[in-house]
Amino acid sequence: MGYAIETDGLAKTFAKAEALKGIDVRIPAGTIFGFLGPNGAGKTTTVRLLTGVLKPSGGQARVLGLDAAADSTEVRRRIGVLTETAGNYERLAARDNLVIFGQLYGLKKVAAVERAGELLKFFGLEERAMERVETFSTGMKKRLLLARALIHEPEVLFLDEPTSGLDPEAAHHVLELIKGLCVERRRTVFICTHNLDEAQRLCDTVAVIDAGRVLAQGTLKELEEKLWSRAEVVVELEEVNARVAGAVSNFAAEGRGIETAAGREAGGSEGVAAAAAAANILRIPLRSHEQIPDLVAEIVRAGGRIRAVQPVKHSLEEIYMKLMGGGGDELAKH
Ligand SMILES: Nc1ncnc2c1ncn2[C@@H]1O[C@H](COP(=O)(O)OP(=O)(O)O)[C@@H](O)[C@H]1O
Ligand SMILES: [Mg+2]
Repeated sequence: MGYAIETDGLAKTFAKAEALKGIDVRIPAGTIFGFLGPNGAGKTTTVRLLTGVLKPSGGQARVLGLDAAADSTEVRRRIGVLTETAGNYERLAARDNLVIFGQLYGLKKVAAVERAGELLKFFGLEERAMERVETFSTGMKKRLLLARALIHEPEVLFLDEPTSGLDPEAAHHVLELIKGLCVERRRTVFICTHNLDEAQRLCDTVAVIDAGRVLAQGTLKELEEKLWSRAEVVVELEEVNARVAGAVSNFAAEGRGIETAAGREAGGSEGVAAAAAAANILRIPLRSHEQIPDLVAEIVRAGGRIRAVQPVKHSLEEIYMKLMGGGGDELAKH
């Protein structure tokens, strides 16, 4: 698969601050990428390098196969950007904001008007198209800024904190729209955010950045596998008898026993890694989730009656916290 965005050792040093210390990211075309990290991590600096606003101090950034610094004019024609500080012309009507931007991007007036109409419709602003932006809610203004970033049909869209300052409902609305944009048009979207729930719902892949370094990147599943060496599954049974407990502990990841909430232990006395919420619910460590079907077969063979089987999944928030809490260094090279 082709990459829409690639960086190699991308670095930026300001007068004093080493804002980016050489980052390598790969973003497949047509996917949504989440760039996550605390304030000051280097997210906005990265966006500014990728969009040709800043020149790197080291390394390279390629967008759509072009050098973001050397070919910045061409890059800017093919990308859309919503910066952290973007604002509309408040005194102008929503539609005029879009038409003016369209013309700045080289669209003829007629084409700009037509495109503005489509976007206003898509973003649910059609009825207010002729009203001044100063009368709009924060969510509506943000939607208009998004529409503006799309006026010239960009192939790649950069969104720096697109939901900051929005209430949860408005934020949700904006996110749904962003998702629609990517799915329909096979557009690549690069989103900076520190809203992890948002990123989990929206993004195909993420990278976590802190103090100018990428700590880890990949899909949620890839990050989970790297950070937690073993998988786990929770099995709820009608009853855990000795036969079932025996079968399960033979199966469970080596050298570990199984424990129920009642504290009963069946097999392997040391390094008890499995705990459970109730006597009939087992939390079982495995080498991988691919063992689940065999485990289930084993339990059934032992006469166990299964009510539910749930692989343990970690949220992006847990992944992020684990990376931020250290242990991220060995993952930096991915
Ligand atoms: N123009 C600039 N001049 C000097 N330092 C800057 C400039 N822009 C960003 N920085 C510094 O670079 C670091 C990364 O900032 P930034 O990329 O804005 O982080 P983020 O977007 O992740 O919050 C911060 O320490 C910030 O103070
Ligand atoms: Mg920022």
